[in-house]
Amino acid sequence: MTTQTPQSDNVITQQAQAILRQNDRGGYTIPTDRLYPYQWNWDSAFVSLGFATFDLDRAWKEIETLFEAQWPNGMVPHIVFRADDPNYFPGPSVYGVQQDPPTSGYTQPPVATSAIRWLYETDHNVGEARMRALFSKCLAWHRWFHRERDPDQQGFITITHPWEARDNAPDWDKPFANIDVSGVGTYQRRDLNHVDVDARPKKFDYDRYLTIVKYGRENEWDQNILVSQGPFRIADPGITFILHRADRDLQFLAATLGETEAEAEIQQWLTRTEQGVSKLWNPEIQAYTTLDLKTGEWFDGITCAAFLAFYAGLHSNETTDKGATLIAHLERILSKVQYGLPGFDPDHPAFEPVRYWRGPVWAIINYMAVRGLEEQGYSELAQRIRNDTGQLIRNGGFPEHFSPVDGAPCGGKNFTWTAAMWLAWFS
Ligand code: SER
Repeated sequence: MTTQTPQSDNVITQQAQAILRQNDRGGYTIPTDRLYPYQWNWDSAFVSLGFATFDLDRAWKEIETLFEAQWPNGMVPHIVFRADDPNYFPGPSVYGVQQDPPTSGYTQPPVATSAIRWLYETDHNVGEARMRALFSKCLAWHRWFHRERDPDQQGFITITHPWEARDNAPDWDKPFANIDVSGVGTYQRRDLNHVDVDARPKKFDYDRYLTIVKYGRENEWDQNILVSQGPFRIADPGITFILHRADRDLQFLAATLGETEAEAEIQQWLTRTEQGVSKLWNPEIQAYTTLDLKTGEWFDGITCAAFLAFYAGLHSNETTDKGATLIAHLERILSKVQYGLPGFDPDHPAFEPVRYWRGPVWAIINYMAVRGLEEQGYSELAQRIRNDTGQLIRNGGFPEHFSPVDGAPCGGKNFTWTAAMWLAWFS
């Protein structure tokens, strides 16, 4: 690793701020020009942390505009389509959601609630009124998760499309093989006009993505149908951990605002998840993995999502065998790559270092993983991953993701959330 002067870090900080400004479309940012020309849900949450380092008002605005698209049932959608842009497929007409502004029919991990807490902690005076205005919206979204995505009160969350978690993760290879795509019809991908084909999901994946969307649209996004009969129903530790963390942060908001009834309601969710999440501990792999609820089959590999257990607040370094087992996996995985944290276990045959969610390093995953590791007392591992993130950005700029093998920048360029994570950590 090369030693950088503080001055060059200052230049990188200016570049990162410029990316946030360039990708600002007036109150919300797009993840990157052309490839993703709309507002994305968890992108906005991370981006707000970048804005918070130089424009706190704009940081709050990023979250507020996201919640403008909240559905009446409480769900906050994964994409907000404020204008129809021919650079992206599938656009609003493919989802057929009757909302203003139009949205996708899915959600994404609820990082926004945690971001609200962090923005509030940056400046209580600025934050209190804005946090108060957002509180009931967050509460409605979390209620939606616990009601619609955990209808049997199992203590874990079901996803209904890979776009709610990690698009082309190897987790879905087997569940995807069982999906009948004969009705998918013809369609034209736009992503391959903007980025290298090797960094993107394959046609095999897109045929299934669109088949699952068609099912949702035909069933008018009825969550009960999607979760009990849909073509894709997976219990996902990643979203479960992020929600659990966000529930704790929501409880903090409730306590700060004197919302005692909500505090008690949130406590029930916390207790249920603390007990239920052990059902996602794969006994063979000895780690948290996804579970196909249609077949009852475990996925046989370890993704970066497993390590968000610490971010969820589970497994402090003084407790549990599971914590120690996860740490042993993490140490092994980090020993195999130059830059951590890879999105997927490099020892697994399905590992691909530059293909999106099948191996690359994501600055936002690192951000959550490091927060959790630090909080649970694993500071050396946290430091390694944080340093790697800084070095990747110093060497490769602000791409969507990076190869863990050699640090090569991959996917979209001038990526807002990568720039935001630099700002949150290194500015
Ligand atoms: N990430 C997805 C895409 O590539 C959508 O969320 O289009």
